[in-house]
Amino acid sequence: MIIKEIDCLVTCKGSHKKTRGDMNDAHIIENGYIIIKDDVIVEVGQGDGYKKHLNDCDKLIDGKGKTVTPGLIDPHTHLVYSGSREKELPLKLNKVGYIEILNAGGGILSTVENTKKASLQDLVNESKTRLDIMLKYGTTTVESKSGYGLDLETELKMLNANKILNESHPIDVVSTFMGLHALPAEFKNDRKEFLKIAKKMIPEIANKNLAEFIDCFCEDGVFSVEECREFLEEGKKFNLIPKVHGDEVEPMGGAELAGEVKAISAEHLIAASDDGIKALADNNVVAVLLPSTAFYLMVGSFARARDMIENGVAVALATDCNPGTSPTESMQAVMTFAAFGMRMFPEEIINAMTINAAAAINREREIGSIEENKKADIVIFNSKNLNYLIYHFGVNAVDKVIKDGKIVVEN
Ligand code: NIG
Ligand code: FE
Repeated sequence: MIIKEIDCLVTCKGSHKKTRGDMNDAHIIENGYIIIKDDVIVEVGQGDGYKKHLNDCDKLIDGKGKTVTPGLIDPHTHLVYSGSREKELPLKLNKVGYIEILNAGGGILSTVENTKKASLQDLVNESKTRLDIMLKYGTTTVESKSGYGLDLETELKMLNANKILNESHPIDVVSTFMGLHALPAEFKNDRKEFLKIAKKMIPEIANKNLAEFIDCFCEDGVFSVEECREFLEEGKKFNLIPKVHGDEVEPMGGAELAGEVKAISAEHLIAASDDGIKALADNNVVAVLLPSTAFYLMVGSFARARDMIENGVAVALATDCNPGTSPTESMQAVMTFAAFGMRMFPEEIINAMTINAAAAINREREIGSIEENKKADIVIFNSKNLNYLIYHFGVNAVDKVIKDGKIVVEN
């Protein structure tokens, strides 16, 4: 396959995470081309260098008027769950807080109830619908967290759904065990017992190879820094790589914990402190920012992306796709919130959704950039340049999605 004469070829070159000024260089080639053989990118160049390959080309795609990027990577989602929570919308608009809804038995816990009731097949079907939308909006790899089970049986059901979806859907699904997502009501007076149960799930999951990462919700009113530390350290013993949901609402020390346990990423970080930001930079932790969640929570602020980038933190972006705080599958929506909520520049945004997002899930050597030997996961946007893609918001700009070298979405 050849994609020729691409007006704006955004390569995001480099198989490592980027920060500072490097984040604002997406290695754009004007009038570029890409040569794909099977599922691999074999050549990237400029001008008419593609012509020497025309003889053995099955599919020639014209890149005139297009912006072409690496397949978008969504490194933080709660893809697998049952039901929806539009009931909470009027409460939110009446200023009832997120943690308040949760502590009244709503929020995450109501999704836990629905997810427990759903069969494995129900979960696969409901989540597949979301994956289909993601693909149409340009996502080719997604991380998916469990955490709506909070008991071994349901957590295994969610993680098995991840596995089935990964094997059956064009999108690659990367699995995370999120054992500390919320405290079940029956453990209100016995937090220690629940922590024990959650820790006991780790070997069951790790031995079945059902997750690569382990995550926890470190938040005032949810799980403390100490509880999260104990849980993540246990996970490390079974080779699960730590991630932390931290400082989403209150500056709790979640970012500092991520640094201390050498997490691969810390996520949310709306309220992260200066010390937290330093801990991320010093320990090479990717900050996965979720501006559609900040928008949807109506907290009036966003994570401090500018301070993070300027202080040497590699920033990635994700949807946080979930039924309570970010009911969207669209990384293009996240582009809008990243630009207009956090003042991230277009090249920073694309790096954050490709190579840095790949680094947040330990995949930066295989995906996240358009260069030789990388997997042919590519999005072709109806957009004459990169600024236009961010500027013209609220629509789906995807023209085609190429996954593993095959066209899987064609507008
Ligand atoms: O990333 N913060 C915790 N978990 C999700 C929300 C889950 C839910 O409300 O169902 C999040 O925001
Ligand atoms: Fe989340």
